Amino acid sequence: MSQRVPAEIEKVLVSEQEIQAKIQELAQAIDRDYAGKEILLVGVLKGAVMVMADLARALETPVSMEFMAVSSYGSSTSSSGVVRILKDLDRDLADQHVLVVEDIIDSGLTLNWLLRNMRSRGPASVEVCALLRKPEAAKVEVPVKYVGFDMPDEFVVGYGLDYGERYRDLPFVGLLKPEVYAR
Ligand code: PRP
Repeated sequence: MSQRVPAEIEKVLVSEQEIQAKIQELAQAIDRDYAGKEILLVGVLKGAVMVMADLARALETPVSMEFMAVSSYGSSTSSSGVVRILKDLDRDLADQHVLVVEDIIDSGLTLNWLLRNMRSRGPASVEVCALLRKPEAAKVEVPVKYVGFDMPDEFVVGYGLDYGERYRDLPFVGLLKPEVYAR
């Protein structure tokens, strides 16, 4: 696969090949753990769309897909821990094996809230699969069964992650050049 690296990117941290290999590895672990079951993948918009699309296709376990959109109250998007649902799931979770799919776990506050919310809906089980995690940024410990890569606490874009809604479409995860923030 060819990699388009725009001029605004300082450095590729996780290449397209590394991401795709990791998704296959995660899918194999998930397939083993859910043998004989069906999974309801719950993607958290918008960042999770790429992981959802690739993970769903890599899994052999039968899956269905749901999406939620959430936003934190107040001006700070990811630090209040109080989350507002912008788009809820379209179905009941009763007796479902829910696998929450995230692009990145930063402070962990969004996921912490989401997990409590999911568990209150009576699913058979709830687990998490996140492609990226920043251990140094954690404000709350969240149990994440499937993690792709632990990252340094740096602002990254690509593969679902944006800066000002751009760069989500990049097939890799990378750092932006400092001058991009100065614009
Ligand atoms: C990102 C990411 C997670 C959340 C993680 O979403 O997709 O949902 O932040 O941060 P936390 O661990 O500090 O809570 P964001 O709010 O940027 O929305 P987006 O996916 O639409 O870009």
